Amino acid sequence: MNTSRKSHWENVYTTKESVNVSWYQPVPAKSLELIRSTGVLPQAAILDVGGGASTLVDNLLDAGYQDLSVLDIASSAFTQARARLGAVATQVKWIESDVTEFEPSRSYAIWHDRAVFHFLTDAADRQQYLDVLRKSLQAQGHFLLATFGEEGPTRCSGLEVQRYSVEMLKALLEPDFHMRAYEIEEHRTPKRAAQEFLYSWWQAEV
Ligand SMILES: C[S@@+](CC[C@H](N)C(=O)[O-])C[C@H]1O[C@@H](n2cnc3c(N)ncnc32)[C@H](O)[C@@H]1O
Repeated sequence: MNTSRKSHWENVYTTKESVNVSWYQPVPAKSLELIRSTGVLPQAAILDVGGGASTLVDNLLDAGYQDLSVLDIASSAFTQARARLGAVATQVKWIESDVTEFEPSRSYAIWHDRAVFHFLTDAADRQQYLDVLRKSLQAQGHFLLATFGEEGPTRCSGLEVQRYSVEMLKALLEPDFHMRAYEIEEHRTPKRAAQEFLYSWWQAEV
């Protein structure tokens, strides 16, 4: 367990309201659109990796998706998310884990990651993440990834990040995954700063 990574994120969610963090989105529209585009059934297993206190899970429940899991290194993020969701929070599986150490006990039709992979600036951590991803996805499962794009910030939450181009992602993910689509989005932080995100949709070959 990377304890400094965990304590960093636990501290974020105990000192900041989820609506004030730079990555906050009242409605994660692009993620919802991508999840709908995959065409998975409402019963499909969906994992939001590094979901933190994101409202994605609220929106997916409203849209009728029934098998939702949120994984995060920081349990304090879940405290905020559960308080917001109230009774329906029990419909979600909350998994406290560092994604690089996650040992899945089942497989998922969708692995969604917005703004988590780009914090892995160490090549060994990235490989570990990709190994866990391959182990966790069902055959022909979908990997929905949002990282900072080439023009995105170089740091977030006080930490260094790796920015990505489509070519860089292809070099990491092909041939195990093929790209279905990608799009650039300009995210506006609560303080109205612009951040370039690269959203990409990948499907496992097997
Ligand atoms: C920038 S936030 C994004 C949160 C959410 N995905 C969103 O879009 O609102 C990064 C999230 O990843 C979590 N995180 C960071 N490193 C992680 C790791 N190695 N394993 C699991 N979660 C991690 C943090 O606790 C935080 O909730």
